[in-house]
Amino acid sequence: MRRRLAAGNWKMNGTAASLSEVEALLDAHVSPSVEILLCPPATLISAMAAVKGQHPLMIGGQDCHAEAKGAHTGDIAAAQLADAGATHVIVGHSERRTNHGETDETVAAKARAAHGAGLVAVICLGETLEEREGGRTLEVVGRQLDASVPDGATGQNTVIAYEPVWAIGTGLTPTNGQIGEVHEFLRSRLSARFGAEAAHVRLLYGGSVKPSNAAEIFGIPDVDGALVGGASLKAADFSPIIEALE
Ligand code: G3P
Repeated sequence: MRRRLAAGNWKMNGTAASLSEVEALLDAHVSPSVEILLCPPATLISAMAAVKGQHPLMIGGQDCHAEAKGAHTGDIAAAQLADAGATHVIVGHSERRTNHGETDETVAAKARAAHGAGLVAVICLGETLEEREGGRTLEVVGRQLDASVPDGATGQNTVIAYEPVWAIGTGLTPTNGQIGEVHEFLRSRLSARFGAEAAHVRLLYGGSVKPSNAAEIFGIPDVDGALVGGASLKAADFSPIIEALE
């Protein structure tokens, strides 16, 4: 069965002082049933790896370049994330799709680069409010899934995060039925393409996951965990979400 995953996306938040939150989290959680992933700014990956020591906490980047090296000022290659201590990398977050013009094809290329560097790609997808209200959600997430997930994706090297854009940072979440419909659809779409391997790919929900709603969301079929933004910054907020998965 798929091991459940609590993932935190710190986005552009956190300094060395924030590592005290990681220490608090490590003290609280060594769970055999739930994997914990934190994706800090790249500036903190090495230091977070030092703090975690032998604890099973996993560390990820928030983006990587599609190429392995070269004249890409300011960008970071997947291998450089791995070198710093990352085992995962988020690709295709809606904030990058929007703010950096990342297309499905760009996301797939980044996921391939992540796989090539031995990183697990956490591939994000989700519809806008206009698309949701226009009844186009499954059409949109289906297109994103097909075009953003590269051939060769497996349960070992890929995690999918469904993050409705209108639920990110807003305090709004879809109904349980809406989340369940999308996750069931994604699982079915993955099965049609990857066969039995699809059953091993974890599907995370992201978008305003909080201690108050986590247990209900995790009770929805085909929800294997969460990709959490704001509520992952403080151990006091992220711990209850992890506990809701245990
Ligand atoms: O990647 C996770 C993020 O987009 C969700 O943010 O603050 O709504 O939990 P938040």
